[in-house]
Amino acid sequence: MRRAVYLSAIPVLAAAIFISTGAHAGVAEGKKAFEARKCASCHQVAGPAAEKTIKDQLSKKGPELWYSGSKFKAGFLEKWRADPRPIRPLAYNSVTERNTGGHPMLSGQEKADVAAYLMSLKSADVKPLGIQAADNPKGRIAFVRKHSCYGCHQVRTRGSLVGGFSGPSLAEASERLNPDWVYAYLSKPSVFKPVKMMPVYAGIINDAEMKGLAAYVGSLR
Ligand code: HEC
Ligand code: HEC
Repeated sequence: MRRAVYLSAIPVLAAAIFISTGAHAGVAEGKKAFEARKCASCHQVAGPAAEKTIKDQLSKKGPELWYSGSKFKAGFLEKWRADPRPIRPLAYNSVTERNTGGHPMLSGQEKADVAAYLMSLKSADVKPLGIQAADNPKGRIAFVRKHSCYGCHQVRTRGSLVGGFSGPSLAEASERLNPDWVYAYLSKPSVFKPVKMMPVYAGIINDAEMKGLAAYVGSLR
């Protein structure tokens, strides 16, 4: 009996090795391309968060990417890297200057490899809870009325963009953000944002409401 189970596991194991070798080729190439293209001069790819003070935060030239694989939806990076439209309405770390775009672009194999590399960077603090994107009343009321999240984040209502400019746009969050990451981001600010650039909601918003918010944010388009 034992032997039969052992033997039948071999093809599965072989398939798993084959698949993971295929994926790793892109990851290693992507890491090389990321370095060669000087992406690391603006983006932190090793966790945990290195910023401790406001000065550290202000010296960063771009958002940290060390938890990209937990944050972004599959497919988003490749799409964005081919057409990097502004996500943050304001220039990074500025409260007055507009983000005029012009982010470095990648194409072809390099774009796919860099996406595979970034998607391999995961954070153990993002638990796979399987929160499903949903326009739920609890999340919507929390976002719009109770906590005025849209005061700092753009969203789209009936076709037009509304909301504040100080945070990243959440108008297309359904294409970009994994709801489990949004939940982790809101509930563990010390991991993801040791320097608080956004109000802290952990301990203020209860767990059910936070999950509702994560589902709601994940549904925004
Ligand atoms: C001169 C600094 C700079 C360089 C070089 C740079 N980036 Fe960026 N990157 C930024 C800024 C600033 C943003 C935020 C843009 C926005 O919000 O629209 C950004 C955003 C991103 C994002 C989206 C992150 C998020 O949380 O929204 C990814 C992914 C990314 N960059 C990858 C790369 C890659 C790959 C390279 C190398 C080809 C690269 N960047 C080179 C400054 C830079
Ligand atoms: C006072 C302004 C402000 C308010 C209010 C606010 N945020 Fe933010 N939020 C920010 C800023 C600024 C950032 C970017 C922090 C950084 O990257 O350092 C951010 C980042 C985020 C991100 C990560 C986005 C990304 O692409 O990286 C999410 C998700 C988010 N906020 C959700 C919320 C929710 C949900 C609420 C309401 C419960 C909320 N925010 C209220 C300012 C705000």
